[in-house]
Amino acid sequence: MRYTLNEIFVVMTHKDIITPITVVDYQELDPTDRTLVDTAREATLRAYAPYSRFSVGAAVLLDNGEIVSGSNQENAATPSSLCAERTAAYYAHARYPEAKFVTVAIAARDTTGNEIAAPISPCGACRQALLEYEKLAGNGVKVLLAGRSEIYILPSVKSLLPLSFTEIE
Ligand code: THU
Repeated sequence: MRYTLNEIFVVMTHKDIITPITVVDYQELDPTDRTLVDTAREATLRAYAPYSRFSVGAAVLLDNGEIVSGSNQENAATPSSLCAERTAAYYAHARYPEAKFVTVAIAARDTTGNEIAAPISPCGACRQALLEYEKLAGNGVKVLLAGRSEIYILPSVKSLLPLSFTEIE
């Protein structure tokens, strides 16, 4: 069959992707979330970050009630370093393979040792890793990004990683 150019219709559409973020202060968190943020903040003190001097802590609440934390672990061979989020997530699933992730909290200290003013957000690789556990959980894993005064609450890891690989139809 022969097509001519004016037989081809391309309908251009536009899509916006919105990331819902609730901004609260520490006192506004419920006690469970507060404990998780405390644990992530404590975990920053166990970071091994002699190269960047940027200390990150992450804490994962599991549906069995356990909290597993991790911190960034750096290495002289830089690509061998691991972020706090993956340290915590991989350990949580290695230790409790049957448990589902419920919430993850992330905190960080800068090179001066002070908690960062504005929350940090996980790197792309950590988002993809966390998304895997969200899929296993079968529902949204709440994300708490803690800064010194403000805490961002996101309903899911997916909201941090729109158009992730497996979502493209
Ligand atoms: N880092 C994390 O552990 N998590 C993040 O979300 C961002 C960055 C680490 C990697 C490296 O050890 C240091 O922070 C500086 O980038």
